[in-house]
Amino acid sequence: MTPAPASRAGGPGAPVRVLLDVDPGHDDALAILVAAGLPGLEIAAITTVGGNQTLEKVTRNALAVATVAGLETVVAAGCDRPLVTGAVLTDPETHGASGLDGPELPEPTVRLDPRHGVDVIVETVMAAEPGTVTLVPTGPLTNIATALRRQPAIADRVAEVVLMGGGYSKGNVTPAAEFNIYTDPEAAHIVFSAPWRVTMVGLDLTHQALATPDVHQRFRAMGTRAGRFVVDMLDFFGPAYRAKQGFDSPPVHDVCALVRAVAPDIVTVRPGHVDVELHGQHTRGMTVTDLRGREGRDLDHLVATELDVPRFWDLVTGAVARLP
Ligand code: RIB
Ligand code: CA
Repeated sequence: MTPAPASRAGGPGAPVRVLLDVDPGHDDALAILVAAGLPGLEIAAITTVGGNQTLEKVTRNALAVATVAGLETVVAAGCDRPLVTGAVLTDPETHGASGLDGPELPEPTVRLDPRHGVDVIVETVMAAEPGTVTLVPTGPLTNIATALRRQPAIADRVAEVVLMGGGYSKGNVTPAAEFNIYTDPEAAHIVFSAPWRVTMVGLDLTHQALATPDVHQRFRAMGTRAGRFVVDMLDFFGPAYRAKQGFDSPPVHDVCALVRAVAPDIVTVRPGHVDVELHGQHTRGMTVTDLRGREGRDLDHLVATELDVPRFWDLVTGAVARLP
């Protein structure tokens, strides 16, 4: 059975606290903005990981986005490379040389926390009431796996892990593997194997979250700094995604994981079991997903399958519209 979330000591009225582990990246950036704009949501911390671009670049981008959002939260840099291969893929074709091409990035007013991101994850979770912090990783899972190794007890204290990564029927780096998992499959294996509740928000779900021209117009109509920042992001992200992956409109993958964490009824899930392929010549990084529900097989993960698209975009645009 899927492990229940650690008992939510915070109670129904308590703010949802999320820790965002990100590699901005345009869709990570939008997830940060949405989290900042959602009422009743507290960002416990933002940690960065090498992925879409180098750790240095994604960290600078995270600080810039936190500045645009008017956030006063902990931002800390984590691991700069995968656990085993040591090679960060980066994806400049999709996110540009800076990792966040398109908008002009402001000088950060948010200070970079001197602690390592992994220490921030461990300290934040261990200092919180059990069941009050949800981890929302939207990049390679290197930080999360390293935090588990450093302090296994976080698995008992985290409310749940809602990650963007993988897919049960498709990949985007190879036909079998998605970027976040493919970059660090060993880290993903550690995360999926730990005794906490993991929800996989993979490509089968995120390809339903397309920033169409109508969506683009909703951000443009806001007339705010944050709205213009999103428009400038999409003005780069859209054509880049079209050129590289052939999409008419770009999927905002990472926002889907955040929305599942804070408004779960917008993202339908079903029980499953995910194994991460580590050795296949053609399938390394594949999230091999068993949805068959065979008797006795422990369906201990949740797998996102269907997005309520209109409510998704209402929530996303509503949150960004609340920012200055
Ligand atoms: O495959 C999509 C994922 O890879 C997203 O998280 C995107 O930001 C990149 O990190
Ligand atoms: Ca990402």
